[in-house]
Amino acid sequence: MKAAVTNDLDRRALAILKANDQGGYTVPTHGLYPFQWNWDSAFVALGFASFDAERAWREIETLLAAQWEDGFVPHIVFWKDDSGYFPGPSVWRTRRHPATSGITQPPVAASVARWLYEAQGEAALVQVRRLFPKLLAWHRWFHECRDTLGKGLVLATHPWETGRDNSAEWDRPMSAVDISRVEPYERRDLMKVDADMRPTKENYDRYLAILQWGRDCAWDHRAIAREGPFRVVDIGMTTILLRADRDLLVLAELLGEMEHADYLRKRISLAEAGIAFLWNDDVGAFCSYDLVAGQSLPYLTSASFLAFFAGAGSASERARLIAHLERISGKARYLVPSLDVDHPDFDPIRYWRGPVWAMVNFLVARGLMEAGYPDWAERLRRDTETLIAGTGFFEAYCPLTGRGTGGDAFSWTAAMWLHWAREKNQ
Ligand code: GLC
Repeated sequence: MKAAVTNDLDRRALAILKANDQGGYTVPTHGLYPFQWNWDSAFVALGFASFDAERAWREIETLLAAQWEDGFVPHIVFWKDDSGYFPGPSVWRTRRHPATSGITQPPVAASVARWLYEAQGEAALVQVRRLFPKLLAWHRWFHECRDTLGKGLVLATHPWETGRDNSAEWDRPMSAVDISRVEPYERRDLMKVDADMRPTKENYDRYLAILQWGRDCAWDHRAIAREGPFRVVDIGMTTILLRADRDLLVLAELLGEMEHADYLRKRISLAEAGIAFLWNDDVGAFCSYDLVAGQSLPYLTSASFLAFFAGAGSASERARLIAHLERISGKARYLVPSLDVDHPDFDPIRYWRGPVWAMVNFLVARGLMEAGYPDWAERLRRDTETLIAGTGFFEAYCPLTGRGTGGDAFSWTAAMWLHWAREKNQ
């Protein structure tokens, strides 16, 4: 019985990836997100890998085909325009072919490339060799353009770069952004998803003001990192880059790229020490940091648990994170809510202010497993399995009821099912 149910879900997950496949790249979901998104594609590649190894690599290759000369990889690639989305290429005006946005997203691609290689072996060496220089160039771009403090951490210049668009962490830094010159605009997302599951109008005004600032300086990334209106060291991007540098190092060694391997080792050591800067002892977690105001942002979010994935934190810091997980698991039916359930800003259905995201669970679980917490890792997998089996392939889920939130037929949720969340042994 269980196998039959699972097979049906397998079929549905496959059908979602196939329906969202535009021939070489995959949209996160039709309607709401009609282009190629950066970290979505990395997760989606893992889903494709369960039935088509070539297609998995192609997803990452297509993303990296939109890389700029300086190594930057955009958060959206507009392979073709679609009037159903705002803000589209005519708002970003990056003057690129293909058209792209002017900000980036969490660099999970190198980790995915390592996992694909490990699953496929020698046969995948060609792809690794082809992708390595591009991944390295992207990581170097982060190291050179976004490590403002020189500690191996990652500066985000727009909430959308973090992938956690309306996380409560960004409220304070966003409130300082001047919105007096925001051009008139019309949102398209609210035609597709309930307003109470999406970022607010005030959020959107500020997103647009930050975008316009970048556009007005012709997407000069160094100037944006120096003077932009939103400058936050993001715990999510920092932990993901640290982990991705480790995975890229494995690929460098595999290819015999010893000079690059040395370089990556130095970057890893720097970040391993530097991440201590983000520890907030009052919260008992690694937290993001507002560089404009010079203050830690005291929020425990699902990204704080990515410390395990990064291989960061002392034994006592890890113990405090596990204690949080324990506490939260007593209050939320499903782990891991994107904001601490005990925080006054917790909102179980509003996007990154409460809902559970399958791909975050996957990264956190992987880190927990590697750090010696297999029971917690299995708990996260099981919760994700139950959510998907009970509700379908949503963008995210209410941690209290399991209700699906945001878009439906979502690519990365389908991919996470195929790659990780479904029970393997039947
Ligand atoms: C939203 C999410 C972001 C994701 C994008 C496409 O902006 O916050 O993480 O990449 O949608 O799915």
